[in-house]
Amino acid sequence: MNSQKLPSEQADEILEYLRQTCGLSFSSTRLKQAEELVVQACLNSNSADLNVYFEKLKSSQILLDALVSKLTIQESYFFRDRNHYQLVIEQILPEILKLRGEQHMLRAWSAGCASGEEAYSLAILFEQYGVKSHLIGSDISPIALQNANTAVYRQWAFRQNDDNFARIYFDKRGEDYYLKPNIREKVRFEYLNLVQDSYPSISRGIWAMDVIFCRNVLIYIDPQLIPKIANRFFETLAEGGWLLTASSDPLLSQFAPFESIITAAGVFYRRPISAVSNVILQSINKHSEPIIDLRPPQTFTNSQIKPKSARRKILPVPPAAPEQKNEVLVLAKQSFASGDYAKTISITRKHIDQDIECCLLYLRSLANTATVEHAEAEARSLGIAHQFSVELHYMHALLLMELGSWEEALTTLKKVLYLDPSLIIVHFSLGVTHQRLNKKTQAEKSFSTVQKMCEGLPPQAALPLADGETAGRLAKLALFELNALKG
Ligand SMILES: C[S@@+](CC[C@H](N)C(=O)[O-])C[C@H]1O[C@@H](n2cnc3c(N)ncnc32)[C@H](O)[C@@H]1O
Repeated sequence: MNSQKLPSEQADEILEYLRQTCGLSFSSTRLKQAEELVVQACLNSNSADLNVYFEKLKSSQILLDALVSKLTIQESYFFRDRNHYQLVIEQILPEILKLRGEQHMLRAWSAGCASGEEAYSLAILFEQYGVKSHLIGSDISPIALQNANTAVYRQWAFRQNDDNFARIYFDKRGEDYYLKPNIREKVRFEYLNLVQDSYPSISRGIWAMDVIFCRNVLIYIDPQLIPKIANRFFETLAEGGWLLTASSDPLLSQFAPFESIITAAGVFYRRPISAVSNVILQSINKHSEPIIDLRPPQTFTNSQIKPKSARRKILPVPPAAPEQKNEVLVLAKQSFASGDYAKTISITRKHIDQDIECCLLYLRSLANTATVEHAEAEARSLGIAHQFSVELHYMHALLLMELGSWEEALTTLKKVLYLDPSLIIVHFSLGVTHQRLNKKTQAEKSFSTVQKMCEGLPPQAALPLADGETAGRLAKLALFELNALKG
């Protein structure tokens, strides 16, 4: 290491780079160990010195991923902090099902999932209680994610569980415990850096969450970035959804308009339910018909009253005048941006058949306040009025993916690509869908297409229909999926 600077100073420069690019932060107690890990990573990379290693690191995603994986602590085990899981069963689940109906598919996200123990614990819990679920695990460490996908553990991962636990849910081979496929296939793992502005994301299935577990993660993140993360979590929760952090994590109450709930198991956070949404949800639970009329009550004569099921057809609204339409859209966009989904629904509702922008805002708001099933039914029916809208069909495909209707999602995604083959994010969704249908070769083809298409763009270019996802980031996600497919 021939440099005028001390190795620890050079290592600190690299750590500062990681703080800026990945948001990783190292407390004084961990700094020495982190410096040693950087020096070790430099030696492993056969670089002449830390300067050379730093230059390589800036241009090599593989080296960066390897270093991040070394520096982040991936300690986890099944049913860690058991009382949090108890809270899910005793309070959160009954609350959400009451709000969204017994048939609701619970949407949960383990953010900073390490090797998958937390996400799989939730999968096991939901299996035990017969709850349908849409489960995602994400992490910044590709190595941790690879282990999560493989789902092979050692006995230490069950340290807080009785002997029966491993016997029921794992197949033992030598010292290794293989998670049974029926649980393994319930969770999808994704690369996601929490400090980046890449969530909520409809296209990646990370939105309208009922439960977010982000435990023992924020403690490693630069404190200056915590307020933004708290806000992004707030936006990613459905109304009435819960965020659970660990007791050692920073408090989030002051950073976003959560309801803070103090329990014996810790302080947790809930996204409040607006009064109007409550009315919507109750009306959905009472009637299974998908249309909600939020207009102020009107007086009808008997002859005007028609069957409810035909309500949308019998209330044709003349197309709005251009200036009026503009006003409606501006208002709707404002209320959507402020998270007032109930108001957005009431503003857009009358214009959904004529105006595609209103229609999309309406569907997004519906999915955030009602159930995915409900939004999917609406998207399907609105697809007839807007048959050439790629946005609408893509949203419909995403909702189908959320519901696990993979075959129908495949058909719908192909329809979107038929209308516009240049949509990179749709090729990505196609890859995910092929993967879920066990069509490995087609999945590889789709992800390779994504890589090739992204290569031709500047890394910071925002992709159409991709919720702010950039070409650089999507290329990285595609690479991650390709590696996972190669196993
Ligand atoms: C100690 S583990 C926590 C695992 C699990 N949540 C639990 O409580 O058992 C911390 C995890 O956070 C991940 N992590 C750290 N910084 C992150 C970031 N900026 N974005 C996403 N994940 C991150 C690490 O890679 C690591 O897997």
